Amino acid sequence: RWTVDNNVDKNKSYSHIQQAAQLLNDGQTVAFPTETVYGLGADATNDQAVQKIFNAKGRPSDNPLIVHIALKSQLKGLVEGFSDKAEKLMDSFWPGPLTIIFRKKQGVFSELVTAGLDTVGIRLPSHPVALAIIEQSTRPIAAPSANRSGKPSPTTAEHVYHDLNGRIAGIVDAGETGVGVESTVIDCTVDPPMILRPGGVSKEEIEDCIGFVEVDPSMQQQHETARSPGMKYTHYAPTAPLYVTEGSMEWFQQTINTYQQVDKRVGVLAVKETIEQLQADVLVACGSSKDLYTTAHSLYDSIRAFDEEAVDIILAESYETSGIGAAIMNRLDKAAGHKWLKEIE
Ligand code: TXA
Ligand code: MG
Repeated sequence: RWTVDNNVDKNKSYSHIQQAAQLLNDGQTVAFPTETVYGLGADATNDQAVQKIFNAKGRPSDNPLIVHIALKSQLKGLVEGFSDKAEKLMDSFWPGPLTIIFRKKQGVFSELVTAGLDTVGIRLPSHPVALAIIEQSTRPIAAPSANRSGKPSPTTAEHVYHDLNGRIAGIVDAGETGVGVESTVIDCTVDPPMILRPGGVSKEEIEDCIGFVEVDPSMQQQHETARSPGMKYTHYAPTAPLYVTEGSMEWFQQTINTYQQVDKRVGVLAVKETIEQLQADVLVACGSSKDLYTTAHSLYDSIRAFDEEAVDIILAESYETSGIGAAIMNRLDKAAGHKWLKEIE
């Protein structure tokens, strides 16, 4: 496990970054920070290396991985052309938290990366440490989130260590990630393009750039035919059952009290303004209602915090699904296994 700071200068050499790139080129797996969450990288052209990602995470093999590049010029060798809309999206949001699905070039990637599909998801991250590692390796790097499958994605090196220590070759630690939820995944092999996973770039920002886009209709529910294969699995789940709640503050407090009366230890996940108004056994403040980007930033760390607290049930507040709220609500709904508690009007 190596620590580097975030102010990586492209023109200098850093031993830990070189070591990480060398391990990747040798067919090993290395975790590194991106601006969204920590990723677990491996050479996307090497079957054995990619297999190590699936083994370390315990990830189902039908769930394809995102391929990370450091330079737009790498794209030409990886995909079969792209639409004008894809080009506009790349110009506006790369480097950054947007994954674009393209038709893949045959014979480039390990088949494990794309889970047998003829498309591939590509992302050019903005984190300087991720960019430096990928650029030095000079290869396309497959990198899912660096958590055990089913757990919340890691936003610190400690989260990665907790989940994957002993299962991977190394972790590059550059502190907390920024956005805190994963990249938005958009399929640009169809027109209009379709958002398969809400994330760091909002639908509103995308539509400002290229006009109307569809949203995968199966996204809201657990669905066998979700177009993004990963969306059908339970994800992000803490150990205790989590419920998403919708109702007045008074109802929220009554609901907490009802569980406490039957000897349940109740945890609450909400923005700090809500936490200040409630009483429960464990209160975890997750950002501020004044800026939901602060909630996205802290979301996974907050969900993980309950695993240290021996609660019997977690009640999570719900948010508007505009902007970054769409990604937050998608993750909470999945962490809850789609279980909701709503006030009856
Ligand atoms: O922010 C992120 O995207 C992070 C960081 C590390 O870059 N990575 C990440 O990867 O979240 P992962 O593997 O946890 O999620 C990849 C998602 C899954 O839902 C997967 O099904 C979908 O992208 N995906 C990948 N390739 C696809 C494809 N060809 N077609 C449809 N969905 C695809
Ligand atoms: Mg993941």
